[in-house]
Amino acid sequence: MTAEFIATDRREARAHAIVPHSPARAELDRLWKRGRGFLGTELAVMGGAMTWVSERNLVAAISNAGGFGVIASGSMSPALLDKEIAATAALTDRPFGVNLITMHPQLFELIDVCLASSVGHVVLAGGIPPGAAIARIRDGGARAVCFAPALVIAKKLVRSGAEAIVIEGSEAGGHIGPVSTAVLAQEVLPHVSEVPVFVAGGIGRGEAILSYLEMGAAGVQLGTRFVCAYESIAHPNFKRAFVRASARDAVPSVQLDTRFPVIPVRALANPATEQFAAIQRGVIERFSRGELSQKDAQLEIEHFWAGALRRAVIDGDIEAGSLMAGQSVGLVTREQSTVEILDELVAQALAVIAKRRDRDE
Ligand SMILES: Cc1cc2nc3c(=O)[nH]c(=O)nc-3n(C[C@H](O)[C@H](O)[C@H](O)COP(=O)(O)O)c2cc1C
Repeated sequence: MTAEFIATDRREARAHAIVPHSPARAELDRLWKRGRGFLGTELAVMGGAMTWVSERNLVAAISNAGGFGVIASGSMSPALLDKEIAATAALTDRPFGVNLITMHPQLFELIDVCLASSVGHVVLAGGIPPGAAIARIRDGGARAVCFAPALVIAKKLVRSGAEAIVIEGSEAGGHIGPVSTAVLAQEVLPHVSEVPVFVAGGIGRGEAILSYLEMGAAGVQLGTRFVCAYESIAHPNFKRAFVRASARDAVPSVQLDTRFPVIPVRALANPATEQFAAIQRGVIERFSRGELSQKDAQLEIEHFWAGALRRAVIDGDIEAGSLMAGQSVGLVTREQSTVEILDELVAQALAVIAKRRDRDE
């Protein structure tokens, strides 16, 4: 056993147990060195923030297992976020981050809560963040991480001070853009070297992680794969739906009329999905008959999903709730511990490297 493996505590021992030192491990560590350095972690794997799912338990579990947990603040108030950060810090002494939704009306207060709690990394999601938000994070001593849906935006965000970029393709669960991870990675990775870039969307196995690292990614971000961790508080019904689903069940929300835009969200098809189409049809008919203004019609459509993710994740209502999930849901086959999930991903990446080395020797 090399000094590198003499664990300083039991959690570290668990994180190392199944991925011992080897030439393959050294190669993997070289490939994701920049991501590990940026996050301050053993593995350059971010647990993508998932509203209602990524709370203290899952976030701490991911960080304790060597990854980087991220709290999903969703629509939390500053006081609630403050409590969640403290509760997470009580469960882990490893680095973790906080994901803030850019259009939250109290964005700057939420940033201040993160800074006051010495959160090391703040991820700005859900729209292009104002430069002032990035500056506030950096001035307060934290690292600013931003989502970029295209190369030009990645470049712009780097100029505005973003210290790392996440590119998330349309295979992902939750709110999605129009471009696949495979194409976005080719568009962005060769051209952004100023800051580390993390790739997200559709990653469910270690082979895929390795391939993005070899294309120049500093690390990856996974959401769907962590939903069925034992430590995830998602309702058993929600987890069961994930285990049963295949990739093709995770579909984007459907928009029936360009006059009434629908924010694209990838989720498992369920009765609510069909009802959403029926609601849109009804609203459009009433609008056409002059019974509804365009604004009220749009509001009625937008209102449909209000509270729906909570209904599914927390209450377990998988008929009327929103089952946000990425296409990698097809690779979720059972409930597993977070350590096991991460070890499996690393082992899959290592197996490819080892096989290649054997072949080339
Ligand atoms: C149930 C669910 C909820 C999510 N909520 C958020 C969120 O609140 N904020 C965010 O930035 N991303 C959210 N995401 C996206 C994840 O953070 C992550 O980027 C994505 O899941 C990665 O793709 P994958 O699902 O293919 O692994 C959510 C994803 C899921 C599946």
